[in-house]
Amino acid sequence: MKTVAEYIQLVNKEMEDRFCVSVPEPRQLYEPIQYILSNGGKRIRAVMVLLSSNVFSDDISDAIAPALGVEMFHNFTLLHDDIMDKASIRRGLPTVHLKWDENTAILSGDAMMILANKLICQTNSKNLKQILDTFNQTALEVCEGQQLDMNLEKRDLLTDTISEVEYLEMIRLKTSVLLGASLKIGALCGDAAIEQADTLYQYGINIGLAFQIQDDFLDTFGDEAEFGKRIGGDIIEGKKTYLLIKALESASTNDTATIKDTINNRSIDEGEKIGVIKSLYLKYKVDEQAHDAISHYFSEAQRTLASLDAPEERKANIAQLEQLLRKRSK
Ligand code: IPE
Ligand code: IPE
Ligand code: MG
Ligand code: MG
Ligand code: MG
Repeated sequence: MKTVAEYIQLVNKEMEDRFCVSVPEPRQLYEPIQYILSNGGKRIRAVMVLLSSNVFSDDISDAIAPALGVEMFHNFTLLHDDIMDKASIRRGLPTVHLKWDENTAILSGDAMMILANKLICQTNSKNLKQILDTFNQTALEVCEGQQLDMNLEKRDLLTDTISEVEYLEMIRLKTSVLLGASLKIGALCGDAAIEQADTLYQYGINIGLAFQIQDDFLDTFGDEAEFGKRIGGDIIEGKKTYLLIKALESASTNDTATIKDTINNRSIDEGEKIGVIKSLYLKYKVDEQAHDAISHYFSEAQRTLASLDAPEERKANIAQLEQLLRKRSK
């Protein structure tokens, strides 16, 4: 059995060999794909496919191409997400739509979605139909989540309240389902029973909720060099993050007005805007509330993993990945 670090290396090597060594024609289409893929990322979705497959089978060869497929899909969503979020930095480098242009990011992203589908199909698993059904349903749900994210972004804080329930549904769709599907697809590649595959899916949903709340936290309180994205980007974009929702639940009438006015203010200096909101987040300890929520969903995940009908030693790598995610700063 390989370690989690060895699985990450395996994914990096496969990505490198298949998509980064040479750039086919037309270069304008494939160069941005090589750019985003060769610049790493944590590779957690691909690793989840492999670890999950390895719970049920010593031979993970049927899971390798599907693992690269979900990772390709994830990277595609980042190209389009960065246009939608007007993001300037990803993994410490300029985003594709700024390094090239928006049309390039759209079309290279589209090509990546198709490459993702091709990779998912490159398995000899007898469960290919279920694997494809899971992948396609999930891909559609990620689009639904991204639409809910934009709908929430547009909702005016002065006339509307956004509930934690709405937020959780949005992040379940935009982030959690892909982690759940990665684990489920891996389980299916390893010939798990459907109940086992579904338990791992549920585990991934809980990990994903914790993961996205962490992402919201790091977007305001992380270190830019480490996180690789612009700190405060969510505040500038008026994203309805866990932090913002909790701050509006806890703040005094005066501070609530300040938060709403500051988020809505488009003429204020960006650094000042981030500073004002961040200090109110700290005043109302929403950083601590986010940590509590993150711990809660990781604990839920642990309980789900404990209920998985498989030998403890075979689940150890999945539990180890979870420990790495708990401590993440990028
Ligand atoms: C970023 O995902 C998008 C979110 C769902 C928050 P990751 O944090 O997994 O990004 P990389 O692939 O490691 O860069
Ligand atoms: C990401 O949400 C969800 C998807 C990419 C589908 P975010 O917009 O928070 O992700 P980052 O912070 O840009 O990576
Ligand atoms: Mg987004
Ligand atoms: Mg984004
Ligand atoms: Mg984010």
